[in-house]
Amino acid sequence: MAKAEKDRTADVLTIFGISGDLAKKMTFRALYRLEARGLLDCPIVGVAIDEWDTEQLRKHAHEAIATTVSNPDEDVFTRLAARLSYVQGDYADAATFKRVAEAIAAAKRPVFYLEIPPSLFATVVHGLGAAGLTGNAHVVIEKPFGHDLESARKLNAELCEILDENQILRIDHYLGKEPVMDITYLRFANATLEPVWNREHVSHVQMTIAEDFGVEDRGRFYDAVGAMRDVIQNHALQVLALVGMGPPTGNHHDSVRDKKLEFFKATRTADPQHYVRGQYKGFLDIDGVAPDSTTETFAAIELAVDNWRWHGVPFFVRTGKCMPAKSSEVSVVFKRPPPLGVGAGKRPEPNRLTVRIEPVPGARMRLFAKQAGEEAFEPANLEVLFEKTPGEDPEPYERLLGDAIAGHHQLFTRQDTVEETWRIVQPLLDEPGPVIPYAPETWGPPEAEKLTRGICQWHEPWLP
Ligand code: BG6
Repeated sequence: MAKAEKDRTADVLTIFGISGDLAKKMTFRALYRLEARGLLDCPIVGVAIDEWDTEQLRKHAHEAIATTVSNPDEDVFTRLAARLSYVQGDYADAATFKRVAEAIAAAKRPVFYLEIPPSLFATVVHGLGAAGLTGNAHVVIEKPFGHDLESARKLNAELCEILDENQILRIDHYLGKEPVMDITYLRFANATLEPVWNREHVSHVQMTIAEDFGVEDRGRFYDAVGAMRDVIQNHALQVLALVGMGPPTGNHHDSVRDKKLEFFKATRTADPQHYVRGQYKGFLDIDGVAPDSTTETFAAIELAVDNWRWHGVPFFVRTGKCMPAKSSEVSVVFKRPPPLGVGAGKRPEPNRLTVRIEPVPGARMRLFAKQAGEEAFEPANLEVLFEKTPGEDPEPYERLLGDAIAGHHQLFTRQDTVEETWRIVQPLLDEPGPVIPYAPETWGPPEAEKLTRGICQWHEPWLP
């Protein structure tokens, strides 16, 4: 490792909330994969309220890995387990942070990962500050960052009493997805795309993040959040920014984040008239959901961007639970060609470039060619799958935790962009309008079709 790299790399990872659900489902798997790839080189201290000791933490990690990794290698686990130690404590108690300080005594560049309820973020950061642990630290904060613009600002102000902006790493796990990173490469590594990537040639952009399951055991969490806050304000807007931003310049750690900020600044504050909310039938019966809940499990919006590149090009976004398929994709749809002197007077359909994030990452350009033996057009798609060996690419949490440890901050969200995204959706939170029931395994309420009327229809997902 080069010296400059080493100077940035964390010398301890401390995880608050190590006994929680996210750790069980995601974190241990991510740590295991990092260990397997030789990317871990520091001790890991777990902190939680549970009366465990280090051996119990190791046992818990072993179980979590056994259920989330297929055929785990015991040697890899043994190496990972040797890094683990446990600190028990209540986050409101100063003594907990004294114990954390003892556990990481020799560390000069600690990373603290807070996978705890958002109401405890500030408490823990203040506890760390009072124990003198934050001077050279980085603090990774799980989503959601605030539940509206005001609370995001308030939370940030509380964190900034102790930390600088460049010490705060806000997670949006979508940014750790390889196909999401691919968008930037695809757009700017190919000279044919940039000249047509604008309002002269593009008719509209549409994005779908659909899941074919409901909220099941997350009723209490989800009822307080809903699709707008859970997916649109963060994952969907972050992807749209990568599709819509200008070319990053300067090759420094803020190149992409600066361009995304410009895109968000140009995005008009959303209009509640262009917002459709749905709730799947059966949501109200889920444990933890209020019997009269009006939380949306489906949301569809239209956004407008006021700049030279996009003025007049609508951006449609929808997301939902209990849809017919698990699919996450974004398409740039080009203008339709005019009637031609070939094709028996028919107009070809528009070209569209789709990036598929789920289920199998890839990109497809819809082109048209002559149908053999007929004077007609037929699709002649160009497709590329991103993964060489499925399952081998780094997974989002593996990538983001690895980056946090390595001191690479590009893939974490900055406060300025977080505030912009809340600003964009705030009127939809203030004036949500009615929630319309829809049957599971459908694409949400029919009103969502009206949103795009006259411009396009929602596309069938591109499935493998
Ligand atoms: C999370 C949301 O942030 O993203 C979930 O809280 C959603 O509700 C998930 O299911 C989608 O991301 P992924 O990577 O699991 O498809």
